[in-house]
Amino acid sequence: MEHFVIRGDRPLLGTITISGAKNAALPACVASLLTDDEVTIDHVPRLRDVQTILSTISSLGKLVVRDGERVSIACGGEIHSEAQAGFVEQMRASFLVLGPLVARLGRALVPLPGGCKIGARSVDLHLHGLRALGARVTEKGNTVTLVAKHLRGARISLPFPSVGATEQIAMSACLAKGETVIENAAWEPEVMDLVALLNDMGGEIEYRDGSLHVRGRPTLHGTRHAVIPDRMEAGTYLIASAITGGDVTVRGVVPEHLRLLLSILSEMGCKIEETDGAIRLTRGSRPHPIDTITAPYPGFPTDLQPPLVALLSLAQGKSSVEERIFEHRFTYTATLRQMGARITVSGRRAVITGVDKLHATAASAPDIRAGAALVLAALAAQGESTIDNLEQIDRGYEHMAQKLRSIGGDIERVG
Ligand code: UD1
Repeated sequence: MEHFVIRGDRPLLGTITISGAKNAALPACVASLLTDDEVTIDHVPRLRDVQTILSTISSLGKLVVRDGERVSIACGGEIHSEAQAGFVEQMRASFLVLGPLVARLGRALVPLPGGCKIGARSVDLHLHGLRALGARVTEKGNTVTLVAKHLRGARISLPFPSVGATEQIAMSACLAKGETVIENAAWEPEVMDLVALLNDMGGEIEYRDGSLHVRGRPTLHGTRHAVIPDRMEAGTYLIASAITGGDVTVRGVVPEHLRLLLSILSEMGCKIEETDGAIRLTRGSRPHPIDTITAPYPGFPTDLQPPLVALLSLAQGKSSVEERIFEHRFTYTATLRQMGARITVSGRRAVITGVDKLHATAASAPDIRAGAALVLAALAAQGESTIDNLEQIDRGYEHMAQKLRSIGGDIERVG
């Protein structure tokens, strides 16, 4: 089995160029289903999850051509209304095809999603929104079928600003009759990047006072769009700099998207410099402890919670982190404990008492972000660690070993 071999306890020094955002690229590819014209997407990262969505789209009848970071999605004949189980089961984001398919074809049949095993992650809000737009929803076994002659605009209030549900409803509402208002909509940068793409395709969407206002159109057209930089990748490498006592610059980022992380890292004593599209992080002494909670944007992102906890395990004192987005997102802390970290988890709250040193371990990446957290811990730990189940890391980090090696990380991909 392929695995990383990491010899830790050395500072990372240098500059990393950040890839396009996975969570923006995935819905952008799905949005191509809303038109027969060609949609070209630039700055698309080479990731397993992106490959999965492209396979999903092409299995539905689209013609997908990939050339490096550019993906062109064109009409390949008729679009099918039934998504194959394999793809959707592999990755939750594939479920996003449901709304666009029913909006275009009047019918969609999609299996229930798989993806990261980090909590219930139900799709009730997606279905609530699509029902409100007039779709008849039936669930049989592991499959959802939606039927609607036409979708009609509606006022939909989300009890929680779900990223996926907001994207699902916004895409579908673009082809509905009349206006849709999504109250309490998610407005993560990746959601707003999708909104920008949909508007470039002829959609009429505005974000005002916590709501997305979507004016439906009979058709959308093709366009060309570059996805935003990946704030989760950038945040991970900034934390890698902090955990190794390094001096790392991440380049090609939007600092505004990382505002809360940067303020937490400076509160921990890291020195941060921002220049045009780049952020440099240096750390002098051991980091100070902090207390934080994860929350929808602009709150602290749940996807950076595992890397942050890895860093806090080396802070001088007691920190606490409360996970408010996903249940069961602390299981990886068992591996950090094997490495010498002092972490107690009670429900959705972790208390981390910083230690001087971590030591090496042999572990498996449980999911994308927990996998990244274990890589960071191993880069800081004394001795040689191995991390396997790299398929998880490959889902969300482009060329992680090469990028870390380019800044002095002693990490090899073996097997
Ligand atoms: C997206 C991101 C993921 C990130 C998450 C939260 C993508 C491809 N993935 O996932 O990396 O961690 O946002 O920022 O963009 N929920 C329901 N019912 C629903 C939908 C969600 O109960 O219908 C719950 C989920 O179980 C979870 C929470 O809401 O506890 C957040 O989910 P959501 O914001 O929808 O995240 P995703 O879109 O799945």
